[in-house]
Amino acid sequence: ERPRPLVAGNWKMNGLKASEKVLTEIQEGFVAALRSKVDMAICPPATLIAQLAEQAEGSGIAIGGQDCHARESGAFTGDISAEMLADAGATCVLAGHSERRQYHGETDADVAAKAQAAHRAGLVAIVCVGETREEREAGRTLDVVRTQLKGSVPAGSNSTNLVVAYEPVWAIGTGLTPTAADVAEVHAAIRAALRVLVGEAEQDKVRILYGGSVKPSNAAELMAVENVDGALVGGASLVAADFLGIAGAY
Ligand code: G3H
Repeated sequence: ERPRPLVAGNWKMNGLKASEKVLTEIQEGFVAALRSKVDMAICPPATLIAQLAEQAEGSGIAIGGQDCHARESGAFTGDISAEMLADAGATCVLAGHSERRQYHGETDADVAAKAQAAHRAGLVAIVCVGETREEREAGRTLDVVRTQLKGSVPAGSNSTNLVVAYEPVWAIGTGLTPTAADVAEVHAAIRAALRVLVGEAEQDKVRILYGGSVKPSNAAELMAVENVDGALVGGASLVAADFLGIAGAY
């Protein structure tokens, strides 16, 4: 039995108060038939979490953060803790998105500490992994993903507090996607690695999302791949019709 799919949107650094309209449209399109098949989450910029969490209440759409600090509070100017995200109404948070790893120098150990903080605050951690173009061309994809996963998934993770997102860095925002066979290979390797990380009884229940240039036009093919339990959507999650179209691929 496959885990219930999750279609999560990452708005990145996009969205102002007026973006409530996008969520309204998504809510209107998240009709019972769709709701019965997939879970949905939106990770807006932190400034919108409280507003959108209030708006989304009761709609079955989860609101999440894009990052959190590893500590609960303290002298960390500009940072936001997992407890603060939870307090604002978030129920999940991305950890180790490639843009955090790339532009903020986050290491696997940092990501594990953030995911652990998320768990402490009662949030689901969506831990992101993925290889660069150079790493893929060098044939190191599985190695890289296994190493990231091992270093980024904290102890105490299970199928209710952990989601893994595989996002090849070269596929993010580029319009390029791996072949279905390539996605299947990486997701199978992630599933195998989860045996060790969360245990035999939990590994097949952990959702493994694919992310990187997911659009309505390629969603059905990508989501049909074995061990793909949903999508992490960037650009297309900013357009309600596209985001709903991706969820509708199920
Ligand atoms: O978190 C989302 C990903 O980075 C994918 O972004 O759908 O714009 O390629 P994209």
